[in-house]
Amino acid sequence: ALLSLDELKRVAAHRAVEQVESGMVLGLGTGSTAAHALDRIGDLLRCGALRDIVGIPTSEWAAARAAAAGIPLSDLNAHPVIDLSIDGADEVDPALNLVKGRGGSLLREKMVEGASRRFIVIVDESKLVPRIGASGLAVPVEVIPFGWALTLRCLRSLFDGTPGFNLKLRTATINAKASAFEEKESQAEPFVTDNKNYIVDMFFENGIHGDLNDISDKILRITGVVEHGMFLGLASSVIVARKDGVVVMDK
Ligand code: A5P
Repeated sequence: ALLSLDELKRVAAHRAVEQVESGMVLGLGTGSTAAHALDRIGDLLRCGALRDIVGIPTSEWAAARAAAAGIPLSDLNAHPVIDLSIDGADEVDPALNLVKGRGGSLLREKMVEGASRRFIVIVDESKLVPRIGASGLAVPVEVIPFGWALTLRCLRSLFDGTPGFNLKLRTATINAKASAFEEKESQAEPFVTDNKNYIVDMFFENGIHGDLNDISDKILRITGVVEHGMFLGLASSVIVARKDGVVVMDK
């Protein structure tokens, strides 16, 4: 039988966890693919196949999920050098550049994965793109809440004239009235990251054209921008689970 998307995610995650050895400091990823890796590491610790693992979570979500799986946790201050990070991605291009942050955890992910000797990305084949941005999904930018509309305008003018470009503040729909006796009304509030910042989502109809490092520098130079979700040159390898088998892309 053909594997579902979630089963493909699990295949990629389990393949990556084969690289984990006892005594390692591990960067723990965020998202539905990374969840399979966290659960697997927990299982291997429980049955004694792995021991002395220290996990550095890339989000509050990852910390909770890893704790539930029984993985001992620490942080970047105590462990500024990480042996191996395993995480999912929203997009992967042929040069192993990534887009991350659809779940909003891009800043901590980039800090942890950037501090890793090796960073293995785990994806199902739906994440492969010819160029980043090409899936039509968001390329996220984490911004300081103060003056966010000004920061958004600066981002807009950076891509002025790019055909099919659009951007907007990410929102989280909340129920304004929780009482069962009142009519439920939903209201859009800004999405807030683990770092108490906002996210501006940028959209590129045909992917991002031009020198990605140059574009990255220009985004990061805008005051009010904290970080963006383009992960350039950070991945050591990408494990792609396809319906017809696993493919490993190496740097
Ligand atoms: C979290 O902010 C993201 O960077 C995730 O790593 C990414 O969205 C992948 O998530 P899924 O594995 O759920 O697709």
